[in-house]
Amino acid sequence: MSKDMKTKVLFVCLGNICRSPTGEGVFQHLVKERNLNEHYHIDSAGTNGFHDGERADARMRKHATKRGLSLDSISRQVTPEDFIEFDHIIAMDDSNVTNLRSFCPSPEYFSKVRKMTDFAQNMDFDYVPDPYYGGEEGFELVLDLVEDSCEGLLAELEQERSTS
Ligand code: 4NP
Repeated sequence: MSKDMKTKVLFVCLGNICRSPTGEGVFQHLVKERNLNEHYHIDSAGTNGFHDGERADARMRKHATKRGLSLDSISRQVTPEDFIEFDHIIAMDDSNVTNLRSFCPSPEYFSKVRKMTDFAQNMDFDYVPDPYYGGEEGFELVLDLVEDSCEGLLAELEQERSTS
């Protein structure tokens, strides 16, 4: 299937080294597990470009590995073209949503932006907290929230796909 036929999902955070690489890795894992690879194109990006070209944070990768997940993203900044290319842009917190506005080439594309926790099924959080300056428990919380939310996101996208 060509990339154009796929549902394209972009996960976004500030630095693209902790939370959005986790979104990309967890969602990719779920999609693969359910044999849906050919239906999804998945990527991640950051609203700042401070970590351009870097792998995901080593602490984030360590915690992900313990859950059988590999985080393979290389950090890059969001571009205006992402708003055209992707069908769904999943932000981790409200500041990501605000910052995404400055990349959006036309207001009609902004409805593609939703927050990761809007899809959470079991956990009651309204954003995914930035773990960068905190301890180990922050990285575990990112994984818990992103795993819970990605299940809900995939369920919604599969529902859409089955009716389109
Ligand atoms: P992320 O975490 O947005 O989840 O990738 C951060 C990574 C780096 C910085 C802040 C947050 N930083 O300030 O460099």
